[in-house]
Amino acid sequence: MSVHSEIKKITTETLRKMKFDKEKITMLTAYDFTTAKMVDAGGVDSILIGDSAANVMAGFETTLPITLDQMIYHTQCVVRGVERALVVADLPFGTYQSNPEKALESAVRMMKEGGAHAVKIEGGKEIEESIRRIINAGIPVCGHLGLTPQSIYQFGTYKVRAKEDAEAEKLIADCKLLEELGCFAIVLEKIPAALAKRASESISIPTIGIGAGAECDGQVLVYQDMVGMNQGFSPKFLRRYLDLYTEITGAVSQYVKDVKSADFPNDKESY
Ligand code: KIV
Repeated sequence: MSVHSEIKKITTETLRKMKFDKEKITMLTAYDFTTAKMVDAGGVDSILIGDSAANVMAGFETTLPITLDQMIYHTQCVVRGVERALVVADLPFGTYQSNPEKALESAVRMMKEGGAHAVKIEGGKEIEESIRRIINAGIPVCGHLGLTPQSIYQFGTYKVRAKEDAEAEKLIADCKLLEELGCFAIVLEKIPAALAKRASESISIPTIGIGAGAECDGQVLVYQDMVGMNQGFSPKFLRRYLDLYTEITGAVSQYVKDVKSADFPNDKESY
């Protein structure tokens, strides 16, 4: 038996069962082969190729500029590094909002060319038909509510969403709608913990929170943030598990010193 066949792959059904069994779900982003391999080996249940690639890989201020072709490229790289985790890929801004046909076309490309196991899209009632169309084609969809960064120019800020009753009620209604449409999970971003708890208790599909408190059924973070590569980004919800910015700049500056002083390479490092 090959090593591959011994690995129990995570599916959307696994995540559903984890919620039922009250086992927390873990998700991290990755955008490349090497990182995906490490994140998968670390045991996360799901890897998200987030459109946050626009920020952390390409240096854009918002997620809006990244294209479907670029997201497909990142997804292909990640898929080659993953043996166990469920691979979910974001459909980027402008590839699903305008009409359901375009949404389905984008999702099909992401599955067929990218090799994703599922797609994630932002929004509720407004994109109901797009979600319906994608799910009817047999493509698993993860919703995304609360702070939806593709709408940043409508919100105007990255502050906590749904603090007011009207927005909170819409979020609960959207959660129920996404469940009814057949989404397998919903990312809840930057909303009050009490609202995330209420949302999680009001649906049978898992919620995966980022800045949404401890009562979500799972948690997601951007990899570069959790390993401390992004010095300038320190929201309250972020826990840094490493200080890789310091480690890496330290290693680079040591390398520069070693080369300048002719310490590297030494005899053992030469042919
Ligand atoms: O793009 C992304 O990384 C995301 C996560 C923050 C959930 O959508």
